[in-house]
Amino acid sequence: MNFNNKTIIVTGCSSGIGAKTCELLKQAGAKVIGVDRNPTSINVDDFYQADLSDPCSIDTLITTLPAGCNGLLNIAGLPPTAGCTEVVKVNLLALKKLTLGVVDKLADNAAIVNIASLAGLGWRDAIPAIKAVEQLRDFAQVAHFCDQYQIDDARSYFFSKEALIVWTMQNRWRWRDRGIRMNCISPGPVETPILKDFLETLGERAAEDMKVMDRAGTPEDIAPVAVFMVSDDSTWIRGTNIACDGGMYNHVQCAMHDLL
Ligand code: NAI
Repeated sequence: MNFNNKTIIVTGCSSGIGAKTCELLKQAGAKVIGVDRNPTSINVDDFYQADLSDPCSIDTLITTLPAGCNGLLNIAGLPPTAGCTEVVKVNLLALKKLTLGVVDKLADNAAIVNIASLAGLGWRDAIPAIKAVEQLRDFAQVAHFCDQYQIDDARSYFFSKEALIVWTMQNRWRWRDRGIRMNCISPGPVETPILKDFLETLGERAAEDMKVMDRAGTPEDIAPVAVFMVSDDSTWIRGTNIACDGGMYNHVQCAMHDLL
């Protein structure tokens, strides 16, 4: 994959999957623009500090990011321990606001890649709330929305990723006239600083999952997929959710349909 003369924006660049993705992009010749609330200078050419839970910070970011970038990797995210309001803001509303805000500035044929999660696999059971959140733009209304749809802290992470998978599918052709496409990747459990938060919140369910899997993933398992999805080598893939989870999604599907 050749990223010479390509500039890629990476949110969540300061840790975990985002940091590894920046490293691989740099190795492939990309210019990397990192975005995070925590500063870093590692494997980024330019860094923009932004708090994605704050719509004003996102507005400033949208204004200051340069035009003509070839990709946007939305990797920043929070675990359920951050609380439902923050999780829905950062993992969903902020991602959508940033994407919709920068898309006009992206170069033609750019790629947008969202990091969703195995946790989003149950989106088919959450359609009413997913349709309702599509109308939600005001960050100040998120707490009320969560109350209304009984989205507590533990549920919020699942919900944010379910809605993200659906939003990605729905927008598969939105910018087709400019060759811009969007996909998402759904990792299973990955060894990063937030893995312990997931295990803490999901309790027995996570312990069961970890028993079935031979190992947790690592950023090295996910980052190459993110790089491929933002490259010109994946142009015919549009609106797709790519499972990158050691086979866990398909294990759950087989179990659900009595096919184990
Ligand atoms: P991480 O905690 O190592 O990295 C997340 C990055 O997002 C951090 O650098 C953090 O500072 C940044 N971030 C969080 N809130 C922010 C905010 N308000 N404004 C700006 N930046 C913010 O976690 P990891 O594991 O690398 O997570 C990356 C993505 O992968 C997330 O979207 C997460 O939901 C997803 N994911 C992670 C899994 C795991 O088991 N680690 C499994 C499935 C998906």
